[in-house]
Amino acid sequence: MKKMIEVSHLSKNYGNRFNQVNVLNDLNFTIDQGEFVGIMGPSGAGKTTLLNILATILLPTLGEVKLAGQDIAKLNENQLTDFRREKLGFIFQEFSLIDALTVADNILLPLTVSKLPTTELKKRLAHLAKTFGITEILTRYPEEISVGQRQRTAAARSLITKPEILFADEPTGALDSKAAAEFLHYLAELNLSEDMTILMVTHDPYTASYCNRVLFIKDGRFFSEIVRRSSRKEFFEKVIDMQAAIGGGGRINAR
Ligand SMILES: Nc1ncnc2c1ncn2[C@@H]1O[C@H](COP(=O)(O)OP(=O)(O)OP(=O)(O)O)[C@@H](O)[C@H]1O
Ligand SMILES: [Mg+2]
Repeated sequence: MKKMIEVSHLSKNYGNRFNQVNVLNDLNFTIDQGEFVGIMGPSGAGKTTLLNILATILLPTLGEVKLAGQDIAKLNENQLTDFRREKLGFIFQEFSLIDALTVADNILLPLTVSKLPTTELKKRLAHLAKTFGITEILTRYPEEISVGQRQRTAAARSLITKPEILFADEPTGALDSKAAAEFLHYLAELNLSEDMTILMVTHDPYTASYCNRVLFIKDGRFFSEIVRRSSRKEFFEKVIDMQAAIGGGGRINAR
């Protein structure tokens, strides 16, 4: 099995020389190609920090991160930009769609500089629009569509480049339960059909139950992990048990 994400002795401090806050502390783990992995832990545990480091948006203080076998610290700024564009996809909670562009143009935005033929662009757009159920709204503008549709547009935009690794930070945070279930269903399908590696931060057990494995972090350290071996329902219960064990996960779920 090809290793897609390799993290060794990863630490992160925020602050300056005089006032350091240690947020991640000696994390070590590996994620294989095609895994759908969740990251959970109490608020402030360092989940977003970890995801942003892995997504090459933030630099670690110590330690090594390899993505698809590449030590990302060894890439210069230009190489990193190319690497990000070619191999990585991101879905953040604030979808950052561009209001002046239609849904279709928002989705195609990451390929503006690509040399792919128009037929290929159209094919990818049509496929993703179908997958995410947004074919009917492609000519509309972000303010003319629902929050769930915006989230799916943002997801389609992050997938149009066919990333090898998808990073998602609380991607269902703004969705009602029906929209969240649909969205997760799409992600799970893509994970299978494209063998795409997905790393998703969430505080929501239902969302996490779609993963094959969930890593729990607390105070910037690895706390535990659980692996899904049977039904999603059963895994959901396990996630809840682990959240109770970890404590301090007391964010109220809107559902
Ligand atoms: N730019 C920053 N400068 C200083 N401290 C920061 C910075 N960003 C985050 N922190 C601190 O690092 C810790 C971890 O933050 P992080 O956003 O990674 O947590 P999280 O697990 O994603 O939490 P949540 O579930 O609330 O999103 C928190 O204590 C936070 O206050
Ligand atoms: Mg966060």
